[in-house]
Amino acid sequence: MKYNFDEIISRENTASIKWDQVEKINGAKVLPYWVADTDFKTPKEVIDALKQRIDHGIFGYTLYSDSLAPTVKNWINKRHGWSIENEWISYTPGIVSAILYAIECFTNEGDSILVQSPIYPPFLQLPKDSGRKIVESEMILNNGRYEIDYEDFETKAKFAKMFLLSNPHNPTGRVFTRQELEKIGDICVRNNVLIVADEIHSDVIFKGYKHIAIASVSEEIKNITISCYSASKTFSLAGLATSAIIIPNKEINDKFKSYLEKRHIPVNTLGKVALEAAYKYGEDYMNQLSEYLESNRDFLIDYMSRYTPKIKPIKPEATFLVWIDCRELNLNDKELNKFFTNSGVKLNDGYTFGDAGKGFMRFNIGCPRETLLKGLERIKAAYDKI
Ligand SMILES: Cc1ncc(COP(=O)(O)O)c(C=O)c1O
Repeated sequence: MKYNFDEIISRENTASIKWDQVEKINGAKVLPYWVADTDFKTPKEVIDALKQRIDHGIFGYTLYSDSLAPTVKNWINKRHGWSIENEWISYTPGIVSAILYAIECFTNEGDSILVQSPIYPPFLQLPKDSGRKIVESEMILNNGRYEIDYEDFETKAKFAKMFLLSNPHNPTGRVFTRQELEKIGDICVRNNVLIVADEIHSDVIFKGYKHIAIASVSEEIKNITISCYSASKTFSLAGLATSAIIIPNKEINDKFKSYLEKRHIPVNTLGKVALEAAYKYGEDYMNQLSEYLESNRDFLIDYMSRYTPKIKPIKPEATFLVWIDCRELNLNDKELNKFFTNSGVKLNDGYTFGDAGKGFMRFNIGCPRETLLKGLERIKAAYDKI
């Protein structure tokens, strides 16, 4: 089946954070390229599975079906070549909540948590809000590509209890190589640092790159890693809040499961149906979506290099998020935000990704090409007036 990602579907007035929580300029809403969800319809098989469940009409307390774990296992094996066991899996209502649970379950107040900045803002906020300290190892921008500063990473890992990994990395779009993962994973093993690997973006990977689950790199790394997966980002299911958390080490797994049990965390009756259908039937959709997003990425890069050359996109290797370097505009945080908002688009402010994000913005290209072009044209019109 060929999917039509060019179809424009209005999301206004659906209580969408992305579309309905935006500023107005001269009475008109700005166009949203911020919150990381896409404007594409989820595959028909997912909608059909949801409809079938809805038609039943009773939505009482629910279990995760026995068929869900083998489906997650199969998806991860097929897409990423990592062979997991059903017992390693538990479920949470989203990955941000899973990260918070892991922080609470495996660290104490005052402990340090390591992140690679610039980084998805909740990685900075969750530890802070729970009384932990953040240690940032800044990635180095080298010829338009972010790289790991291993020396700095190791120095900081020495006094960290936990490392929050985003792979593929939000916002830089890096797909870490086996060698990179091995190096940082070994540093964590040597320094007794628990890894929480957020692999939510691992379904959309561009040509020439391959997602590698850090837990699949070695036995030692597998033993200290909590891996987080979800269909929510890539199958337009974020509002159905259901994620799979994979923990091979029995002691860590038991402790996490017992933590979840004690909190009586509810099961989303529709979310688990959607996750299962997406992972069962979504392969074609995901391959075609990745191609579409790759062409959106190339379109944006080409457009900006022609018409707004002082705004420089960092070419992502995965994800539907483009990190754009606006430092040549010489605007401070507030002015940069104003520049884009006044042009009629809403992006994510780079400074919210840590100090390493100052002077940058994040652009969500998970939309039909026509919508993407509209945003770029608005930015060009504002840029021409500088
Ligand atoms: C790296 C990363 N992790 C987690 C999330 C959110 O996950 P969830 O909605 O499952 O909490 C996002 C959303 O933007 C993300 O980019």
